[in-house]
Amino acid sequence: MPEIILPEVELNIHSPKNPTEATVVENYICTAENSPNIVRHMTFDISGTELEGKFKVGQSIGVLPPGETEKGRPHKLRLYSVSSPSKGEGGEKHLVSTTVKRANEEVDGTFYLGVCSNYLCNLKPGDKLKVTGPSGRRYLLPENIDDFNYVFFATGTGIAPFRGMIIELFESGFKGEVALVFGCPYRTDVLYPKFFNEMAEKHDNFHYIKMISREDRRADGSKYYVQTAIDDHEEILSPILGKENTLIYLCGMKGMESGIYHNLAKKGFMDYLRLKGQPESEDPNDWSWEEVKTMLKPSARTFEEVY
Ligand code: A2P
Repeated sequence: MPEIILPEVELNIHSPKNPTEATVVENYICTAENSPNIVRHMTFDISGTELEGKFKVGQSIGVLPPGETEKGRPHKLRLYSVSSPSKGEGGEKHLVSTTVKRANEEVDGTFYLGVCSNYLCNLKPGDKLKVTGPSGRRYLLPENIDDFNYVFFATGTGIAPFRGMIIELFESGFKGEVALVFGCPYRTDVLYPKFFNEMAEKHDNFHYIKMISREDRRADGSKYYVQTAIDDHEEILSPILGKENTLIYLCGMKGMESGIYHNLAKKGFMDYLRLKGQPESEDPNDWSWEEVKTMLKPSARTFEEVY
């Protein structure tokens, strides 16, 4: 296993107390048009700010939404994963992108709209916004990028960093293996489908696996989730996961990590994990959900960002 050399990053050049101004340059829907789950690809121009060229793929940008909470306090900062490569969107270092889902939910008959995501999604090219960053110290691609293979697991907008990472890898002529396992409820919710389908057509070493949770069921009645891909697409994933120089990255909803770690353990891929404590049984098939949740932690080969 080669040493993992992470790039030096600059953190919080602009903090919430001292934000800078960015301008929206694009804001478009990046799911199918008929998806009820609206997710937008947004690009901000940061030219002339200290942030130009500073976001590494995997890091996040902070957004300060205007206005106040019900208690009269200014809204807090929200972090969004950057979905452009380190070179910047389209190779332009003054452009940084992110992927934003309009958040909404009904609680006890009242409908709530996510403050920052709806603010962002309503912005038009030319509109200004307050931003901070960069943030994130470890969720990065290694500098010695060619020394590894990569398996990326994303649910929903957790795809954001992997869009940037996959652009970065293949633009640099990467020759190793890359697998992307993406989970979403319906086929219409697949994010950036055109981009990833084209990448899969172009590159034999890019494996694109979609896990659609609410259309069909697995033979045992369970849902197709990113973690079940470890079984359902074993023929693609096991050979890559079994290489001694593969790294895995997870990004998306909290909870996905435990499912992935348990399924990795069941297949014997323990190198991606660190055991905190000793489960009662040696056989991962016997481990309780409680044991899985509390005892399976990421090792140095595993990068986790869940929220
Ligand atoms: P489901 O909601 O059908 O249970 P989105 O962010 O677009 O809603 O997509 C999130 C995806 O992750 C959905 O397909 C969702 O399935 C799935 N999901 C929900 N819970 C988990 C979990 N614990 N592990 C992995 N995937 C999950």
